[in-house]
Amino acid sequence: MTTFAKGLEGIVAAETRMSFIDGEKGILEYVGIPIDDLARNSSFEETVFLLWNTRLPRRGELAEFSEQVRQRYKVPTALAKLILQMPKDAQPMHVLRTMTSALALYDPSPNANDIPSARAKAMNILAQLPTIIAYFDRHRRGEAIVEPRSDLGYAANFLYMLNGKEPTEAVRRAFDVCMILHADHGLNNSTFAARVVISTLSDMYSAITAAIGSLRGPLHGGANEEVMEMLGEIPSMAAVEPYIMDKLAHRAEGARIMGFGHRVYKTIDPRATFLKTFSKQIATDTGNLPLYEKSSKIEEIMKREVGAKGIYPNVDFYSATTYHSIGLKLDLFTPMFAMSRVSGWAGHCIEQLDGNRLFRPKAQYVGPHGVRYTPMDQR
Ligand code: COA
Repeated sequence: MTTFAKGLEGIVAAETRMSFIDGEKGILEYVGIPIDDLARNSSFEETVFLLWNTRLPRRGELAEFSEQVRQRYKVPTALAKLILQMPKDAQPMHVLRTMTSALALYDPSPNANDIPSARAKAMNILAQLPTIIAYFDRHRRGEAIVEPRSDLGYAANFLYMLNGKEPTEAVRRAFDVCMILHADHGLNNSTFAARVVISTLSDMYSAITAAIGSLRGPLHGGANEEVMEMLGEIPSMAAVEPYIMDKLAHRAEGARIMGFGHRVYKTIDPRATFLKTFSKQIATDTGNLPLYEKSSKIEEIMKREVGAKGIYPNVDFYSATTYHSIGLKLDLFTPMFAMSRVSGWAGHCIEQLDGNRLFRPKAQYVGPHGVRYTPMDQR
């Protein structure tokens, strides 16, 4: 029996113990804990431990886990040199994808797929993505690279390497919360890509490289950059309504309001609910309230016009305002997403390796049959 589901909609293709999504009720849990609870109380490192071990760590375990991540921040010297040779106008997501692949070249056993090796590689990649991004960003700005500091946590160290100074506590916390909210999300496109690759018993580097390639698409992780571009295209509050109405009028030709709609959520994405309140606070603190207000107005119009169709804000909508408010450049928004989601990708790869079966769906052939080969001179 063959059923064709375009975009694999509704198909269950893997089992996971990490995140649970109820798209009708707007619920997201990591290992049973509501995302809101984690965003309020946890840290990114603790959330990664939770995802990779399917339980919360005890105090000593968290300290040990965080220390292991911190000890891995530095990238191999040869790789750091390679980053400094990248064209300065390269897009950060292309650099990130290329350098993640290059990490395999400095691993003495890049193909080892036993679970302890896969976990060690996952931790290396998690720890080094921020360093790659920060090194490249400083290189393209013509600034000297700033070495990672193993006395700083994941969020603080990244912002320190990027800006050359430690972030304020409010900015560090805002960034850490964004990392928690983006960490895992069921079998989204990039996670599926990672699982498909590792299911051939390829390697962790190949799987994460594929996932980064998937994430950068504007229908997936690239949407947060497009949200910011859209907000930039709307010059004033008065211009919001005509801009959105014009886009909606061209929906049939493929026009989309970025940061809205989701394959799974048919109500507001719970991460967007949290980020909405959170981005209002951080935007107020950093003098970016007009950006928040514009976003809120767009949400209001979208609810009125297409709310009944289940098109609501997704995680990217308010994360754009949050990232902008904490001073991140537009083309670093998707790399930030990758820095967080790598925890989910790696966790899914480990789940896949533990009881692997090769992914191999079928394609429905829709072409002709029985066609005779036409010699070249008769075509
Ligand atoms: N703006 C306007 N209309 C939208 C929309 C959006 N952002 N998202 C979905 N729709 C409409 C479509 O026009 C379509 O309407 P129709 O049934 O009248 O033709 C319907 O909703 C279904 O859209 P479709 O694109 O088929 O849904 P999907 O499940 O394949 O796509 C997304 C999901 C996320 C790709 C899609 O909602 C989208 O492109 N959103 C914008 C990009 C984005 O924010 N991505 C980040 C996701 S976390």
